[in-house]
Amino acid sequence: MLSIRPWRPSDSGALSALYEASVRRLGARDYTPAQIEAWASLTPSPEALTARMQDGRSRLVAESNADVAGFIDIEPDGHIDLLYVAPSATGQGVARTLLETAEALAPVSGAARLYAEASETARPVFERLGFSVVARRDFEVAGVPIHNWAVEKPI
Ligand SMILES: CC(C)(COP(=O)(O)OP(=O)(O)OC[C@H]1O[C@@H](n2cnc3c(N)ncnc32)[C@H](O)[C@@H]1OP(=O)(O)O)[C@@H](O)C(=O)NCCC(=O)NCCS
Repeated sequence: MLSIRPWRPSDSGALSALYEASVRRLGARDYTPAQIEAWASLTPSPEALTARMQDGRSRLVAESNADVAGFIDIEPDGHIDLLYVAPSATGQGVARTLLETAEALAPVSGAARLYAEASETARPVFERLGFSVVARRDFEVAGVPIHNWAVEKPI
């Protein structure tokens, strides 16, 4: 049974671990080992995840049978900063439920659109949820070339 609730400070340790496991296990479908290492190096520490909550963002946590199954960070202007699902929970609609909940809540902050920089792995998920691809983004992380996709959806 999947449920969505607001973030609590005690979540940050589990969410940091979930981020890295998600990158290493799920991201590895679409990126090279060097790219995965670079991406995993961006894993926010529990302290950093807690600190990011100071900037006005909302963070929703998905739970399945009391286990953390995923989370999403939405900034007041509609930017989706983080969307990560636990490898053990993938393919079960966790990202869909998090995105649909974020979309339902977005009008409260006055955002006119939702937008994100979607990984290759996440791109089909965003498209399935009605987002359009705006552009491919090529950049470097820790000296390693990598890419993602600018996506957006009017609300
Ligand atoms: C991308 C990610 C968040 C998806 O999470 P998930 O919970 O497995 O996705 P869902 O099960 O909710 O899938 C949502 C929809 O997308 C569809 N979908 C998923 N992957 C797809 C693919 N490769 N091709 C086509 N459709 C796909 C699903 O079928 C589902 O559609 P449905 O609900 O109509 O059946 C997860 O793989 C992840 O955390 N990846 C690593 C980290 C990452 O890339 N984060 C995004 C950073 S922007």
